[in-house]
Amino acid sequence: MCGIVGYVGYRKILSVLMDGLKRLEYRGYDSAGVTWPEHGSLVRVRTRGKLSRLEEALEEHRGTDSTAGLGHTRWATHGEPTQQNAHPHSDCTGELVVVHNGIIENYYSLREQLTAEGHKFKSETDTEVLAHLIEKYLQDDIEAAVRKALADASGAYAIGVLWARRPDVLVAARKHSPLVLGISEGEAFMASDVPALLPYTRDVIFLDDGEMAILSGSGINIRSVTTGDDIEKTVQQISWDASMAEKAGYKHFMLKEIYEQPDAILNTFRGRVVPGTGEIRLPEIGIGREVISRLKRIVFLACGTSWHAGLVGKYWIEKWAKIPVEVDLASEFRYRDLLIDQDVLTIPISQSGETADTLAGLRIAKERGSSIVSICNVLGSTITRESDGTVYTHAGPEIGVASTKAFTSQLTALFILALFLAKERNAMTDEDASEKIGTLISLPGIIEKHLPEWHNQCRDLADEFYTKSDFLYLGRHLQFPIALEGALKLKEISYIHAEGYAAGEMKHGPIALIDRNMPVVAIVPGDHVYEKMISNVEEVKSRRGIVITLGREGDEELKRISNAMIACPDAEAEINPFIYTVPLQLMAYEIALARGCDVDQPRNLAKSVTVE
Ligand code: F6R
Repeated sequence: MCGIVGYVGYRKILSVLMDGLKRLEYRGYDSAGVTWPEHGSLVRVRTRGKLSRLEEALEEHRGTDSTAGLGHTRWATHGEPTQQNAHPHSDCTGELVVVHNGIIENYYSLREQLTAEGHKFKSETDTEVLAHLIEKYLQDDIEAAVRKALADASGAYAIGVLWARRPDVLVAARKHSPLVLGISEGEAFMASDVPALLPYTRDVIFLDDGEMAILSGSGINIRSVTTGDDIEKTVQQISWDASMAEKAGYKHFMLKEIYEQPDAILNTFRGRVVPGTGEIRLPEIGIGREVISRLKRIVFLACGTSWHAGLVGKYWIEKWAKIPVEVDLASEFRYRDLLIDQDVLTIPISQSGETADTLAGLRIAKERGSSIVSICNVLGSTITRESDGTVYTHAGPEIGVASTKAFTSQLTALFILALFLAKERNAMTDEDASEKIGTLISLPGIIEKHLPEWHNQCRDLADEFYTKSDFLYLGRHLQFPIALEGALKLKEISYIHAEGYAAGEMKHGPIALIDRNMPVVAIVPGDHVYEKMISNVEEVKSRRGIVITLGREGDEELKRISNAMIACPDAEAEINPFIYTVPLQLMAYEIALARGCDVDQPRNLAKSVTVE
């Protein structure tokens, strides 16, 4: 996720900006840039790669005594990670610059319109439209011009704006992307996150959606973006130390990323689904309708958690688009005798886009004539470069080694892809698609609402069960892959042996394991296999197994036969995999914590597996 730093006051600008950007490095980035006013114009220095390269490029400017400016680290979403696409972006004159974190959804139409009006674009980014839009409205009031520009833009943003003619003022605004302001005598700061401010001030204001701020050496004024009316905000005192602040106050990156899931899901469907119409927009898919209509089969290629996402995606695609789907472990696929040709669509799923086995499988499928559409979280990664198209998950960088928000974002991308294929093949009506879109849109709110309660319940469960040495996870249908994922999360971070099973398979082997020491985690939503799951739970009970269930709020029957139950909302069956994943992540996290494990860096594991 991009990082923004802005400063106006009395300190030398370059050290404040570079120090702040370094403190935001944990967010992940692929390029960086800074800007400051000097002799009536703006200096702008941008580089691809790490901040050390930006520092080298700034060597010749060390002597600047400017005391205002903006800095940015970019995590690419629109356009490759190049110097040209790095922020800050400028208008046609070079007198106005913008840094941005978020996604401008209607950037394409805005860009066309501004180009027709004579604006010249220099990057492939969505951000640059903001610079030109502000330029369009700018006469002598920068605040008013920003307000008008933002009225035309839809999507998510945290922005910082600097205009050479008002070098003592920064303008900031926020909608759906974080921005925090810092104040101290004679100076003002803005940043994407608190760590960038901590060396200078602990007095902060968290900007809310729809608010903008005018920063100068004499203070900060907050106004409404829509009306321009003043808004009173409380200044808060931050007590976190630097390492807590990097994690936004969470104990671990993994926990922070679990809590970020409502946003990660929202950012992944944002701009791709149109509520009320059933329209799905995936222009980046890279294959045409003729390829989609002749498809005989889809093959998912993935490893680990990403493979589990593929297993869920299979149900949606087969049900909605009526295309047969195989879900292959990439490490197995590459050594099989493959029946792949141009009528097969291969979909590699990978958070990192660099997993060696997935990449090797992609190359083999491509050689056999298959089209490749990847699902990936890292723009410009090898898998995306070798694919015909990529449906990006917009989870932001995932730092915890155990995948959490990347998984639910992959599910989101698969859900949208399944609807898209169904529509393209005339297998689903607009009405049905619209209903499914409505269900998807409800998800972030549902998860956000239940997270604190799930977390409390999982703390209690962890207290009770953290000493156990084996767990069995059971699920059926859409919840079978979620049982696999729950077991994987527990084993990788707590080092407890855990297995996921299709509940119907229990009697074919694992039932022999059940005794009074064995917790069995059963996922039991109110779907069409509910009765079957209840029977499985009873089978465990009658062998004195410990039953931990996840089921519908108010399901008294389930509660009665459970030793412990986590209550989940009664939602449409197709979004249950998202919902039931989250408490399982929290349970694994709390158990690992109780066992004193290194949750973010589990032993023997790497975030990106680039070897076979
Ligand atoms: C588990 C986990 C791994 C990855 C797997 C594939 O929490 O993170 O199982 O899912 O190594 O990685 P990507 O998705 O980067 O290809």
